[in-house]
Amino acid sequence: MKKQSIQFDYEVYASVDQLTSEDMLLMKEAREVTAKAYAPYSHFLVGAVAQLANGAKVSGTNQENASFPVGVCAERTLLASAAMLHTDVPILTMAIAYHNLNGESGKPVSPCGMCRQAIHEYENRTHQPIKIILSGMKGEVYIIEKASLLLPLSFDGSELR
Ligand code: THU
Repeated sequence: MKKQSIQFDYEVYASVDQLTSEDMLLMKEAREVTAKAYAPYSHFLVGAVAQLANGAKVSGTNQENASFPVGVCAERTLLASAAMLHTDVPILTMAIAYHNLNGESGKPVSPCGMCRQAIHEYENRTHQPIKIILSGMKGEVYIIEKASLLLPLSFDGSELR
C-alpha cells in the first residue's frame, strides 16, 4: 500500500478591485446577471459569465422548476449556450457570482459536483483549461487556475472506449 495525495493552490483576493481589469469586469458582469436568475424556489440567484477565446462573452443563470430536479444551474445553462452559439470555441475564463436573498453573499461559493463535471467536459472537448473566478456580490474573490483542479480523480470518459 502507498498513500498518495492531491492538493491545489488557489488565489484569494480581498475584493474584486484587486483583480486584473478583464477579470474584474467579468466578475462584475456575473454579479449583474444574477438578476436574470429564475429561482423562485430557492431564492438563491446564481450568475455566470464566460470569456471565450473568440472575444465573445456568454452568460447563464440558474433556471429552477416546480419539479425541483428539473432545475438547471447557472454554469450548465452557460455551457449549453456557449456550445450552441460558439461551437468548439474554447472558454478561457468563467466568473460565477451569487445573490442570496437573505443579503448574505459576501463569501465565494463554488460550483456543485454536476457542474464541475460539465465544466471539465468542456475543458476536455476544447482542449482549453478554464479559469474559474468565484465571489458573492461583495467581498473575497477566489481564482482557480483551471476548473479540473476542482474535480480530482475525475471521470473523463477515456475508459469508455
Ligand atoms: N446553483 C447554481 O446555479 N450553481 C451552483 O454551482 C450551485 C447551485 C443553483 C441551483 C439552484 O437553482 C440553486 O442554486 C440552489 O441550489
